[in-house]
Amino acid sequence: MEQQIQKKRIFSGIQPTGNLTLGNYIGALRNFNLLQDEYDCLYSIVDMHAMTVRQNPAELRKACLRTMSIFLASGLDPQKNIIYFQSQVPQHAELAWILNCFTYMGELQRMTQFKDKAAKHADNINAGLFTYPVLMAADILLYQTDLVPIGEDQRQHLELCRDVGQRFNAVYGDVFTIPEGYFPKVGARVMSLQEPTRKMSKSDPEDTYIAILDKPEIIRKKLRRAVTDCENRVVYDPEKQPGVANLMSILSALSGMSMDAITAEYDGKGYGIFKDAVADAVIAALEPIQKRYDEISADKAYLQEVLQSGAERASNIAHRTMLKVRKKIGYAPFKL
Ligand code: TYM
Repeated sequence: MEQQIQKKRIFSGIQPTGNLTLGNYIGALRNFNLLQDEYDCLYSIVDMHAMTVRQNPAELRKACLRTMSIFLASGLDPQKNIIYFQSQVPQHAELAWILNCFTYMGELQRMTQFKDKAAKHADNINAGLFTYPVLMAADILLYQTDLVPIGEDQRQHLELCRDVGQRFNAVYGDVFTIPEGYFPKVGARVMSLQEPTRKMSKSDPEDTYIAILDKPEIIRKKLRRAVTDCENRVVYDPEKQPGVANLMSILSALSGMSMDAITAEYDGKGYGIFKDAVADAVIAALEPIQKRYDEISADKAYLQEVLQSGAERASNIAHRTMLKVRKKIGYAPFKL
């Protein structure tokens, strides 16, 4: 008899708003691709999370499809992976409500991303922004996830997810798998090109980040203008030379070169040559994605097929978890 070995499960999500950046690529999307053969993976475009800031509906719709096209263009195989829109699987919202009742205000108040976003959107500090990490916990726990590939900025949210999952399990028995994080060895926190002590973010001004869809000449221009310092050394020292350290991390993440090898190769040659080498590595990584993106984003029938099958397959798994949760907590049964 053929024996099927159960693969471990991965879940991760990316918000569709704005331009996906090199940070999203190195911190998350690239790992999605590296892990797709070994694991049973779900990758979601988390449009419900995007609602925490005001969105233009037509723009959001476009951004959702753009993000799905980038997922596919980056090499994710929709047969092997479940790629879907979060809002098309209503169980995310259903479980989030229940988990809200197992999450403490104090825990949410400690979330650094909430504090940052509340400062950035002072005119719209809505309840969704506050409970955002609970929805994220629901995303992950809904699929009995073992591993979550994310960048460093999501570590605190993952910790909260683990705490809430464990708290629930302590009351009702082993309902949820408690997930681990999976972080890139280098590049878990790609920094802004203009203010290298801040994370590269798609919601910041254009010249601070490289978008996955930026054309090669733009990438080169942005990297040439990236802030370095006046030491003129290519040595990895994030405290003293955060700009150079960031560019070294990008090069290391994309080329596999160690920091020492980068220093040996580029130290003493001037920043121009070093920055061009970083640009070459970034272009080599992104250009093939851009070529495939143009084809994929124009193929509506293909996108339709991916989104429909993704939502169906994700719903099946989500449904199984929710039946278990409903029964455990004592909701009224559908059948007496
Ligand atoms: P989001 O959309 O801000 O970012 C998507 C992924 O990219 C990573 N990332 C970075 N990595 C390195 N350097 C950077 N500068 C950088 N910027 C972003 C993020 O860490 C993330 O892995 N709340 C999440 C989305 C989400 C999610 C989930 C993730 C919702 N539910 C469940 C995992 C599991 C977010 O806003 O990511």
